[in-house]
Amino acid sequence: MGSLVVQVRRKRPEALHIVSFELARPDGTPLPAFSAGSHVDVHLPGGVTRQYSLCNDDTELHRYRIAVLRDPTSRGGSVAMHDTVREGDLVEISEPRNHFPLVHAQRSILFAGGIGVTPMLCMAHRLAATGAEFEMHYCTRSREHTAFRDEIHVSRFAAKVQFHHDDGPPQQRLDAPAVLARPEPGVHLYVCGPKGFIDHVTSCARAQGWPGDQLHVEHFGAAPIDSTGDRPFRVQLASSGAVHEIPADKTVVQALAAQGIEILVSCEQGVCGTCITRVLSGECDHRDLYFTDEEKARNDQFTPCCSRAKSPLLVLDL
Ligand code: FES
Repeated sequence: MGSLVVQVRRKRPEALHIVSFELARPDGTPLPAFSAGSHVDVHLPGGVTRQYSLCNDDTELHRYRIAVLRDPTSRGGSVAMHDTVREGDLVEISEPRNHFPLVHAQRSILFAGGIGVTPMLCMAHRLAATGAEFEMHYCTRSREHTAFRDEIHVSRFAAKVQFHHDDGPPQQRLDAPAVLARPEPGVHLYVCGPKGFIDHVTSCARAQGWPGDQLHVEHFGAAPIDSTGDRPFRVQLASSGAVHEIPADKTVVQALAAQGIEILVSCEQGVCGTCITRVLSGECDHRDLYFTDEEKARNDQFTPCCSRAKSPLLVLDL
């Protein structure tokens, strides 16, 4: 995956604790094309890499726009973006990748929780541009926490968006069971936001009978993983037959890198899917947020940046 150096053309507050960054090539030439749901890796000083969804219209190639929630409890990426990255700075990013694409559907329902609005904004632009049928539910703590509120109000899809604020009257809150009351073939659901929001919408969808393949989820940050019970195990590389020990305090990616075997990674939190590796035998201990429950149950691939093994040996297609 190629990387590129972009310049911060504009940095502006969008809501309480949220700023947006407009990124462009320093020489003004077009950026690589992207599709709705794409993200870029932003490489920050100190070796920190973070993924941010592109939230602008995907026909725009003169800029990428990202928005960042300042989260002092995160591992430092969002605070660095807020406090140290300034207009005019050069930043290294990856080319856009898309793990959260729109699929062709009769109708789409977008659920955005807080900063999870970023990929949804891009999706709304795309769906509106193609005349597709859709609605968007945008949930935030309050009006002040609602990024892009004014922009949405004047957009061509304004009438499709319902705002729901935690501090507003009960009748305007998201009634997920009502919105999801009737599963229909051809209707696809997209969910992005904090874990509690995603869990609420997806558990409601499942309870109402929505099939997993009509439910699309994007996580933007993993909760810390409890590693206290981790045990060592071994992995075997199918190509060479070599067996490697994975100590309790190392990930598969780290242990194999120490032996000179590199696996491409990005988020290293089980969120982005970059490191996905096929598993030929053994039982995975999935720790990621990337795969659906159905995909995890198939036990034929895992994310070695964070996932481990329940069996003593995993044979990997490496
Ligand atoms: S590197 Fe992102 S899921 Fe493993």
